[in-house]
Amino acid sequence: MRDRPTSLPIRFDAVTYSAGTTAILREVSLSIGAGPPTVLMGPNGSGKTTLLKMAMGLLTPVSGRVDYADQKDQARRHAFVFQKPVMLRRTAARNIAFALKAAGRANDPAVIARLLESVGLGALADRPARRLSGGEQQRLALARALARDPEVLFLDEPTASLDPAATKGVEDIIARTAQAGVKIVMATHDLGQARRLAGEIVFLANGRLLEQMPASTFFTNPATTEARRFLAGELVI
Ligand SMILES: Nc1ncnc2c1ncn2[C@@H]1O[C@H](COP(=O)(O)OP(=O)(O)OP(=O)(O)O)[C@@H](O)[C@H]1O
Ligand SMILES: [Mg+2]
Repeated sequence: MRDRPTSLPIRFDAVTYSAGTTAILREVSLSIGAGPPTVLMGPNGSGKTTLLKMAMGLLTPVSGRVDYADQKDQARRHAFVFQKPVMLRRTAARNIAFALKAAGRANDPAVIARLLESVGLGALADRPARRLSGGEQQRLALARALARDPEVLFLDEPTASLDPAATKGVEDIIARTAQAGVKIVMATHDLGQARRLAGEIVFLANGRLLEQMPASTFFTNPATTEARRFLAGELVI
């Protein structure tokens, strides 16, 4: 367990983002703190991926600010997995070795083996990563992100297009990682997955933050009509 996460909380203060005349995030203010996973939900195009990228520092607000508790060195403490991870043209083990090196960590075969084991890929260490199945690649991408020993792990739809067994494998890894004290910030469309993993829900619609509340409250008693309609499968923008 980590004692003192240092880039958390991540604070958004009236963050606005637009492309041309299209508003993508509108005056979003929120704080993402240490603790159980923060799960972003909302219809397609509501701004989840944009908010994740902003929190990772990959996009700069048009107005407003994103602040980290400790600004220094924040990028090194963050790791992320996008929906379609790009595998390097080398074996699974060497993909991990590359991530360790990029993070300035020792290239220790025991660490590589442990990371591969932790995502159930111990037997596939020498397989070319691009030959792995979609679910296996998603798990390798998680191991690669964990090789950075991150304080915060950002995930964008980590199980989209995976079958139920592969989804469970990835969810188990996410749950274990959260238990180990890594802050998870993730976007998902999967209501079941959000119920299983989320500590709190951040609900977006049309670029606006409508709710940030404990998951148990969100699912039983959402505050806004939009969230109620979303949960009922009616809100699609
Ligand atoms: N660079 C860009 N230029 C123009 N429009 C953009 C740009 N980036 C995002 N958008 C638009 O902003 C909106 C929000 O996009 P974003 O990818 O954040 O949504 P999302 O909630 O992640 O959606 P999904 O559930 O489909 O993944 C969308 O309407 C998208 O088309
Ligand atoms: Mg998205």
